[in-house]
Amino acid sequence: MTDTQAPVQRPDARGRIDTLADDGSFVEFGSQARHHVTAFGLADKRPDGDGVVTGTVTVDGRPVALFAQDPTALGGSLGEVHAQKIAMVQDKASRGRIPVVGLLDSGGARIQEGVAALDGYAHIFHRNVRSSGRVPQISVVLGPCAGGAVYSPALTDVVIMARDRAHMFVTGPKVVKAVTFEDVSLADLGGADVHSTTSGVAHLVADDAEGALELTRRVLSYLPSSAWEEPPLAAPVPPEAMPEIPTDHRQPYDVRDVIRGIVDGGSMLELSEAFARNIVTSFARMDGRPVGVVANQPSVLAGCLDIAASEKAARFVRLCDAFGLPLVVLVDVPGFLPGTGQESAGIIRKGAKLLYAFSEATVPRATVILRKAYGGAYIVMNSRNIGADAVYSWPGAEVAVMGAEGAVDVLYRRPIAEDPASRPEYLAKYKAEALRPDLPNEILSVDETIDPGDTRRVLLGTLNAVRGSLEPGFRHDNLPQ
Ligand code: HXC
Repeated sequence: MTDTQAPVQRPDARGRIDTLADDGSFVEFGSQARHHVTAFGLADKRPDGDGVVTGTVTVDGRPVALFAQDPTALGGSLGEVHAQKIAMVQDKASRGRIPVVGLLDSGGARIQEGVAALDGYAHIFHRNVRSSGRVPQISVVLGPCAGGAVYSPALTDVVIMARDRAHMFVTGPKVVKAVTFEDVSLADLGGADVHSTTSGVAHLVADDAEGALELTRRVLSYLPSSAWEEPPLAAPVPPEAMPEIPTDHRQPYDVRDVIRGIVDGGSMLELSEAFARNIVTSFARMDGRPVGVVANQPSVLAGCLDIAASEKAARFVRLCDAFGLPLVVLVDVPGFLPGTGQESAGIIRKGAKLLYAFSEATVPRATVILRKAYGGAYIVMNSRNIGADAVYSWPGAEVAVMGAEGAVDVLYRRPIAEDPASRPEYLAKYKAEALRPDLPNEILSVDETIDPGDTRRVLLGTLNAVRGSLEPGFRHDNLPQ
């Protein structure tokens, strides 16, 4: 080996646990558990622990149940005993009301064990679902995750992938080739980039295992140990300066700068950042308390809601609601994305998920309309009558059934057809009558128009005032969207 060559890193399940856990906190069980299979020469291959390390740790002082698959023992493949150990981790978490973290790195169902291995997965999936919304479940994919095995991560709350070794797919490249004749690489089929940008499977991506475990610690820092507890507190940090946003509604800006002007400095952790970028979903803190932020992103698709954005935000809202994180919703939305593509792909059915998620949420939740909120998208984005505790607007914000351009062509189609030059006049009339910024305040759709610089103070006051509504306990599950 020359000086410039890095040593090959062997994945090391115990080392990974040590990276995640507080020093000296790991309490192991089942280290001597082994399969009793004799077929296919397995009698000679009976590694201690059966390819998975299981136990409990503390992370930042809080107990967490975890398992780490060991790819150096039978490829981390999952047989009956391996599955039983993971199920015991899940049962401990469910009984003790503590989070479960899974470090996945496995060749999948242990082929020699046949249907017993498949049934082992079924045990795990069943427990994933029964724990959903009760204890936080985090899947950290650090290596291969193939076949139906991907459905355990998909049932959990947050999926984190390590770019260097992780891939997830239901059928691997060889099967794809055999069935569809398509040549595709592991990375293109199920690498971290595909799953963080296109499929939306991965919520967070790091370069390697160490980065993924660091992200795991961060995710845990926003979530309570269970639905029966409150989210953990941190020291309050002042926000960044509130930016000025363009008044021209067609001018884009990055709504994340507005979020940074509201939440504690450095506290944002965006989930699914590169997927459905027209909506931002982010954990953050305000005065040290975790919150969930949902915000339309005007710099992507003008902030329109589409199927991907609706599903992404719906799952996030349900996650926050299940675990008692108040919701801050920033609205700048021209409507649902129009077109045959969206309609035929089911925007009615899928957009309803976000409407359902907000309507169902019982956590404190407040909305700020930054520039505009039109049509169904206005209603969906945490409006007053679907249960927002308060709705504020920034000066000049418009709330209407639709923007002026679309409206005049419906309302004044005949006179404009007779005299096309009259269109600007009708536009001005509509703007003056229907887009009057004080109209929503008159009918209490908007509680108050506030100064942008006062947004954090007003939101904190609102959320704190209704914090008594946050009754710890099971609210609902976190159904995959
Ligand atoms: C039994 C397995 C195994 C498996 C790997 N091994 N996967 N043994 N069942 N599923 C064993 C190998 O035989 C080898 O044993 C050792 O683990 C290390 O594997 P290698 O191939 O040498 O390692 P590597 O080159 O790093 O490749 C890792 C891998 C590859 C990419 C994961 O092993 C692989 O493609 N495995 C099969 C993946 C797969 O198709 N799994 C089934 C998916 S279907 P020795 O003795 O030589 O060291 C599925 C259904 C789940 O999982 C359904 C749930 C409902």
